[in-house]
Amino acid sequence: MRVLSGIQPTGRFHWGNYFGAIRQYIDLQGDRGRAFYFIANLHALTTVRERATLARYTLDAALDLVALGLDPEKATLFVQSDVPEVSELCWLLMTGTPMGLLERCVAYKDKKAKGLAADAGLFTYPVLMAADILAYDSDIVPVGEDQIQHIEVCRDLAASFNHEFGETFVLPKAKILDRSARVPGTDGEKMSKSYNNTLAVFEEPAALRKQIMRIVTDSRPMEQPKDPESDHLFQLYSLFASDAQREEMAALYRRGGFGYGEVKKALAELAIDFFGPARARRKELEAQPRRVREILGDGAATARAKAREVLRRAQDACGVRLPEPC
Ligand code: ADP
Ligand code: TRP
Repeated sequence: MRVLSGIQPTGRFHWGNYFGAIRQYIDLQGDRGRAFYFIANLHALTTVRERATLARYTLDAALDLVALGLDPEKATLFVQSDVPEVSELCWLLMTGTPMGLLERCVAYKDKKAKGLAADAGLFTYPVLMAADILAYDSDIVPVGEDQIQHIEVCRDLAASFNHEFGETFVLPKAKILDRSARVPGTDGEKMSKSYNNTLAVFEEPAALRKQIMRIVTDSRPMEQPKDPESDHLFQLYSLFASDAQREEMAALYRRGGFGYGEVKKALAELAIDFFGPARARRKELEAQPRRVREILGDGAATARAKAREVLRRAQDACGVRLPEPC
C-alpha cells in the first residue's frame, strides 16, 4: 500500500500547515508500507519566481519536515524535480487531457475570473499532480479539501489512459485530512501565507511571544464571561493544551474575569515547549548540511527506481517505446 503526498515549498511552514497536514503525514508514515513524501518545487515554480528563494524554501522544507519527525527510515522524502520521469509521464497524460477538464479546475478558473494572466504551467498544474501520483502506483493520497478536485482529475486521467491503452495505472484514493484541524490565524481568519496572519513553526521564542501578543481579540470587558469554542485564541490554545489544561481554560472563559493577555502568555509557553524538540533537531540538522542532501539523494534514488518502472509501463502501453527488434 503506497501513501503519497506533496507539499509546496512556497514559504516557511506555519501552524496551519503543521496541524492541518504535516503532522498527519508523519502519523501515516510507517502505517502501510513505505510512504512517499515530496517537496513540490515544480508546482511552487508557478508562484515563486526567484531562483534563490525557491532553492532556499525547498531546502528549508526538507529540514523542517525531518526536524518535525518525518523519518527517512520509514518514509521516502525527496524533491519533485529530482525525478524527471514524472515530467515525462506528465506529457503522456497531457495528450489525453481534455481542455474542458482543466478549464474547470479552480486554481486556473479563479485566476482567470480575477482577470489575472494565467500561464500554461498553472493551467496544466493538475496534470503534473496526476503524474506525481501515478508515477509511484500510489494508493492513498492524504490531502486538504482544496486538493480533492485534483485527485478526481488524476483518477479521470488514469482511468481514460487505462481504457485507451490497457491497464497501466493504479487508481488512487484521496484521504481527506482532518477538517477539524483547520487552524485560525492571528486575525481569526484561516491561517494562510496569503493572508499574512501566520505563526511560523520554527519561530524563535522571543519573536513568537511578540507575535502571539498581537493576536486580534475582541474588546469585551474582562469581567464578562466568554464562549471558548467560538474564540480563535482558545482554538489556538487547544492545539497545544492537554485535555485538563483545555478544560481549565474553558472554565476560565465561561466564568469571565480574565484578560486575553493571560491566555496569550499561556499559549506562547505551550507552543514554545511543544515545538522545542523540533527546533533543537533542526539546529542539529542545519549544522550538518550534507546529511539533508544525503536524505534527499537517497529518497530521490528510491523514488526514481519506482517512477522508471511505471514510466516504462506507460511508454510500452501507448507505443512511444519501440519494441525490441526480433
Ligand atoms: P497556505 O494557505 O499558507 O499557502 P498551503 O496551501 O501551502 O498553505 O497548504 C499546505 C497544506 O497545509 C495543505 O494540505 C493545507 O490543507 C494545509 N493548511 C494550510 N493552512 C491551513 C490551516 N489554516 N488549517 C489547516 N490546514 C492548513
Ligand atoms: N498541489 C498540492 C498542494 O498545493 C501539492 C502537490 C503536488 C501534491 N503534487 C501532489 C499533493 C501530489 C498530493 C499529491 O497542496
